[in-house]
Amino acid sequence: MNIEKLQQTAQGMAAPGRGILAMDESTPTCSKRFEKLGIPCTAEHRRSYRDMLVTTPGLGKYISGAILFDETLRQSTLSGTPFAVHLQQQGIIPGIKVDAGAKALAGHGDEKVTEGLDGLRERLAEYAAMGARFAKWRSVITIGAGMPSPACSMANAHGLARYAALCQEADMVPIVEPEVLIDGDHTIERCFEVTRDVQQMVFAQLTEQGVMMSGIILKPSMVIPGKDCVQQATIEQVAEQTVRCLQETVPADVPGIAFLSGGQSDEEATAHLNAMNRLGKKLPWAVTFSYGRALQAAAMETWGGKAENVERAQKVVSHRARMNGAAASGEYAPDMEQQAA
Ligand code: 13P
Repeated sequence: MNIEKLQQTAQGMAAPGRGILAMDESTPTCSKRFEKLGIPCTAEHRRSYRDMLVTTPGLGKYISGAILFDETLRQSTLSGTPFAVHLQQQGIIPGIKVDAGAKALAGHGDEKVTEGLDGLRERLAEYAAMGARFAKWRSVITIGAGMPSPACSMANAHGLARYAALCQEADMVPIVEPEVLIDGDHTIERCFEVTRDVQQMVFAQLTEQGVMMSGIILKPSMVIPGKDCVQQATIEQVAEQTVRCLQETVPADVPGIAFLSGGQSDEEATAHLNAMNRLGKKLPWAVTFSYGRALQAAAMETWGGKAENVERAQKVVSHRARMNGAAASGEYAPDMEQQAA
């Protein structure tokens, strides 16, 4: 384990005013999103879509790292440069999703456990040789009656810690992603309790497995009411509760916290991140984004699978990246959205 290299990568990922582009949708997830827009689900369409994203002019100004899917790491831009090389050239650190997805947890109804530890050491070595410098593993926690069960929280925390230790052994920074889902009618208070408990368990397991905190990035969900909860929260409430939760659970030597968007609208995700960075608290970690949908949804729609839309779609990517870059510094204002339009 090369401590210096890990810390350098993690600090690069958490660079001020920049964040991470999560473009690591698995083929089934990508197909679902393409299908809704009438885009053919072929390997070449996935390649050209990702090509559009990464060749957005000036992307590296606001994007510090990009998470790729296995297929994408093996593909190249239209001009024949492997995506990982092209990203490096833009000052963007390439990373790779390495989990094998969330599968039903035996004996636990609708709860899930993330798989993918078998053979992970060998896969990490291959990915590192292809240029990936960090990895991502996502666990999902559902809030509901009797959920999360201790068994589900523990199995997922343990998996995240085993994965993180393997990444660091391979000199790759693990993005540790315990996602508490926004689905359901739970209150913000309940989301706070569950997120706090899950994060505490994750850090206990990371410690147990000997993971070096200065060489990870935490990718949490925000503390937010369920999307069917009758009592929704203000932007400030979400920001305050989320930061309070992090302060109770995240060690100070973790360099960066990069949120997932988890089904929030583009502008909500940006506004929440901005509000956290404007609370005026001196936080020990960088607080930024690692958005998938909230960075890509509008651009994918604009692109629509057609080469003639690439330039327009790239303007949309560029705009969202700039808005989120501003939010990562607490310098976003909603009227910046209109200025661009
Ligand atoms: P969303 O921002 O769309 O939630 O995706 C982030 C991600 O990487 C999920 O694993």
